[in-house]
Amino acid sequence: MPYTCVLIPGDGIGPEVAHAAQKVVDASGAGLEWVERPAGASAVTQGHGSVLPEVTVDSIRDHGIALKGPCTTPIGKGYTSVNVALRKKLDLYGAVRPVRSLAGVPTRFEHVDVVVVRENTEGLYSGIENEITAGVVTSLKVATERACSRIAEFAFHFARERKRRKVTVFHKANIMKLSDGMFINSSRAVHEAYPDIEYEERIIDAGCMRLVQAPEDFDIILCENLYGDVLSDLCAGLVGGLGVTPGANYGVQQSVFEAVHGSAPDIAGQGVANPLALIMSSVMMLNHLHRKHDDQKCADCAKRIRDAYDRCLREGATTRDLGGELSTDGFADALIERMSG
Ligand code: NAI
Repeated sequence: MPYTCVLIPGDGIGPEVAHAAQKVVDASGAGLEWVERPAGASAVTQGHGSVLPEVTVDSIRDHGIALKGPCTTPIGKGYTSVNVALRKKLDLYGAVRPVRSLAGVPTRFEHVDVVVVRENTEGLYSGIENEITAGVVTSLKVATERACSRIAEFAFHFARERKRRKVTVFHKANIMKLSDGMFINSSRAVHEAYPDIEYEERIIDAGCMRLVQAPEDFDIILCENLYGDVLSDLCAGLVGGLGVTPGANYGVQQSVFEAVHGSAPDIAGQGVANPLALIMSSVMMLNHLHRKHDDQKCADCAKRIRDAYDRCLREGATTRDLGGELSTDGFADALIERMSG
């Protein structure tokens, strides 16, 4: 069945990596149809009147899946994050960021295989900030029982479905007794229905120390929004950086697949960005289509792409961030060559 994917190039290196990923998916034989839609600062400069035009949100509602490049968010001023707004509008409550050690990408650790499952709709990301009086501001951390239970259910279900062994909750309930307290209480309650999955809790500061000492201790890490954001980049660092870390944001009806990295303005427009993280995200998208529609062809295409990028990495056919010399497009071509060879 032909599926339609909304392609959102985004800002900075976004268009470069998005078009490289699109080329790879097409070459895999998946037969996806694409509709390209704007988002980010570039949507405004292109005259769409908003950083998140309704036409983009409507297209994702219509087609159910999107492959999204990164969008720039101004620091300390300006409009609110396109990513946060999109996740809220479509209720994309479950973010999944898998990291695994990759042959050919030398790092300090060899056997990392961790998935960060992040609550994507509340916490400090609610963006509720107030200036109480000059020199005094507050930022509200929101936790609801519904969202805490929903993400815990998502994480345990994910663990069982993917045959993972353990869920570890990272929290700070010793200090934030009500909000993080609700998070761990909800996780404990949900765990009762999943006795086959091991469950543990770690206070986030000590958990982070353990993560960089012995990442093999961890399997699925479950956490609220801000912790998940920080931990995703930390985990990316364990396996070779932002160029190799994919992500997915799942809702009930729609899912948006995007790399963990941002728009990388320092290297935008130079053709040197690593498209692999977004290509890996597209593999997650194909596997999602396989599970959702029981469509084996999507799984086969996902495997074809994954085998080919594993080969690229083993053979040193990589971009500059991984020590290679290939351009963004050059890497996509090298991968496509290995899919057919
Ligand atoms: P960043 O991830 O864009 O860049 C951090 C460092 O990693 C830079 O040195 C960059 O060159 C490098 N890098 C990132 N992706 C790379 C790739 N694919 N290949 C090679 N090198 C890569 O993070 P930064 O600089 O903090 O954020 C830049 C902008 O991106 C900000 O406006 C931020 O808000 C936005 N952002 C957007 C995200 C999204 O749309 N999902 C996620 C994270 C940040």
